[in-house]
Amino acid sequence: MSVGIDRINFYVPRFYLDLRELAQARQQDPDKYTIGIGQDQMAIAPLEQDIIAMAANAAYPLLEEDDKDLIDMVLFATETSFDFSKAAAVYLHDLLGIQPYARAVEFKEACYAGTAALQMACDYVRLRPERKVLVLTSDISRYGLSSSGEVTQGAGAVAFVVSANPSILAISSQSLAYTSNQFDFWRPYYRREALVDGKFSNQLYQDIFVRLMGQFLNIDRETIAELETIHFHLPYSKMGMKALKALRDQNSDSLIQEKVDLWLERYPQTTYLGRRVGNIYTGSLYLSLISSLIYQESFEPSHKLALFSYGSGAVAELLIGELQDGYQKHLDIESMLDQLDQRQALTVAQYEQLYQESIPVTEDEFIVCQQATEPGFYLHRVDGHRRFYIFNKINPNPKTEIRVE
Ligand code: COA
Repeated sequence: MSVGIDRINFYVPRFYLDLRELAQARQQDPDKYTIGIGQDQMAIAPLEQDIIAMAANAAYPLLEEDDKDLIDMVLFATETSFDFSKAAAVYLHDLLGIQPYARAVEFKEACYAGTAALQMACDYVRLRPERKVLVLTSDISRYGLSSSGEVTQGAGAVAFVVSANPSILAISSQSLAYTSNQFDFWRPYYRREALVDGKFSNQLYQDIFVRLMGQFLNIDRETIAELETIHFHLPYSKMGMKALKALRDQNSDSLIQEKVDLWLERYPQTTYLGRRVGNIYTGSLYLSLISSLIYQESFEPSHKLALFSYGSGAVAELLIGELQDGYQKHLDIESMLDQLDQRQALTVAQYEQLYQESIPVTEDEFIVCQQATEPGFYLHRVDGHRRFYIFNKINPNPKTEIRVE
């Protein structure tokens, strides 16, 4: 029996910034952003599209009534948490109407957390093949205005349903993880923006990738020989390519030398979505997987794919997946691409204004958004430090409020 990703979808908020405009405002050469860093746009979340709303919008189209009864766990990975105690997963369990005898938990270890959730989900289903797990990754990445990390921001969520005999990607129980206590990127609780040593983080990411691939080669050469594509956690699209080149430079094994050429050839397709969305932290690796599922023309059933998950701090893991027959039929490619195309471009001034907005931290009621213009879930208000969400029914109009407590 195989276990893995049965359904997958992503959600991005309705605004974006063209990075050429940002380059102009920051007096940088646009080629630095679009070629040097490899990003074209970054998604920007208004206050009402917080991590809960984005995750709910990513998951909502995936779930049929039966799934809600079969899901035993809701696992939410994020590094944009707004509560130290109550898990974001609990809101999702409610908003999506999951059966009550379920677990709902939040996962944290920077951008790696989604992979920890996926692994837990797969292990759970291996023991109980008739049950399912919903995994959510949702983040808004923030660096300082005019900082070097500013161009590598983004916002969005990826949701997936894990089941036995999955329709999209079977995940092998064989994987290799690595942990090392480092300060490359971290966010103490009193800060809204992360602290990052970008150059060190880049170096660490590459070193750990090279180390994991070397170790995996020692353990299971055959699997490395079969790998058709490698997907990376992508804070920006150049990062995975640098890691592949570092592997080629530092590992002289003839198999690695031969395979890196193939992996580099298939690399651009893994980045198409990320180039338009930016860094979504926990979901970035899985957005890269979706990008490949949409754009790799050479993919065939039973192809073996690798996923390199990296979370600053640092924890990393190399996962192996096997593509399933007919996987395209289980992806709503049109809707996924439509939402990207229908986004509204912001000016740099509008982006800076949104960047400065925040929800007041008082007892008083604060209406975040009286009525959203978009279909889907949104944060309506915060009252007594409690967040309340509304669902804008997709069809028919006028919008129908189905959930306000
Ligand atoms: N045309 C083309 N390329 C250009 C260019 C131009 N006009 N100007 C610069 N570049 C290239 C540089 O050569 C460099 O390429 P390289 O990385 O292959 O050497 C790249 O653009 C970036 O330039 P650099 O000067 O290093 O940029 P920076 O000091 O502004 O920092 C990051 C870039 C990515 C390090 C910074 O944005 C960052 O720290 N981001 C956060 C990373 C992160 O999220 N880490 C933690 C999670 S893993």
